[in-house]
Amino acid sequence: MSHNKRIAVYPGSFDPITNGHMDILIRASRLFDHVIILIAENGAKNSRFDVVARQKMIAEAISDAKLENVEVDVTSGLTVEYAKRIGANHLIRGLRAVTDFEYEFKLAAANSFIDPDIDMIFFMAKNDFDFISSSSILEMADGGVDVSSLVPKSVIKYLKK
Ligand code: PNS
Repeated sequence: MSHNKRIAVYPGSFDPITNGHMDILIRASRLFDHVIILIAENGAKNSRFDVVARQKMIAEAISDAKLENVEVDVTSGLTVEYAKRIGANHLIRGLRAVTDFEYEFKLAAANSFIDPDIDMIFFMAKNDFDFISSSSILEMADGGVDVSSLVPKSVIKYLKK
């Protein structure tokens, strides 16, 4: 990949991807030449969907949204190491009101300790998406709530499985 291109990595668990994530991804794709949405395989967290399923849901959502400068990938290592390897200098994260701040503040400090050259960029979640999280989607879907306006179409298929 060419080094004069501005590349960003958008890391997360994406278990599953939500319309809140998609909004951040779309906004990031306007700012950077290339965005990699990166599924960080986190052994400590027990996930609903395996990485293959999560990758498929994201790939389909990217294609449906016609995001031509976005790709999905998976890592089991450090996000910052992945970013360095592909020549990305920025990590993208979304922030919902208040609750996410402390966690993201620590994550940014840890990432900056690993490599001070890689900066995190935060997008404020839109009001409509402020209450959405992957786990609230799963709870609502399990409880029979129609979440089709909160997640990409590709996710609905997997929620029904
Ligand atoms: O969607 P999440 O679960 O809030 O995402 C958190 C994530 C995956 C971005 C973060 O845990 C991460 O980057 N994990 C990979 C390992 C790593 O690089 N940790 C940062 C130093 S503690």
